[in-house]
This record gives sequence, C-alpha cells and structure tokens, in this order.
Amino acid sequence: MYVCICNAIREKDLRCAARRLCGDAEAVYAAMGSKPLCGQCLEEADDIIAEEVASSCMSRAA
Ligand code: FES
Repeated sequence: MYVCICNAIREKDLRCAARRLCGDAEAVYAAMGSKPLCGQCLEEADDIIAEEVASSCMSRAA
C-alpha cells in the first residue's frame, strides 16, 4: 500500500526507513530522497513512523 502517492512511498519502505532514521515524516522523506508535495500523507506517515519507533524501543527493552 502506498502511504505517499506523490512520491510513490510504500508503507513497508517507510517502516523500514523509520527503523533506521530519526525524525518526523518530513525528515524521513528527506533521507529517502523525497519531499512532501501535497502534504496529505504526513499525518498517516507520522503515525506509522511513531509506531515503528515505539516498536523498536519495546524490542530493545525486552
Ligand atoms: S501524498 Fe505524500 S506529499 Fe502528496
């Protein structure tokens, strides 16, 4: 599933990048060589990134 239609960013690619990078959706997009265009995806992208960060922290604590 695409999270960002403008940049053709798939959810799985965003999750993978979020595990390696720091920051919000705009920062992760920039690290992926993209930038928001219409901006409609940013709230969902931030939620996905937050899920990955939380999941990563929980696995480190275990
Ligand atoms: S859908 Fe991501 S910038 Fe437009």
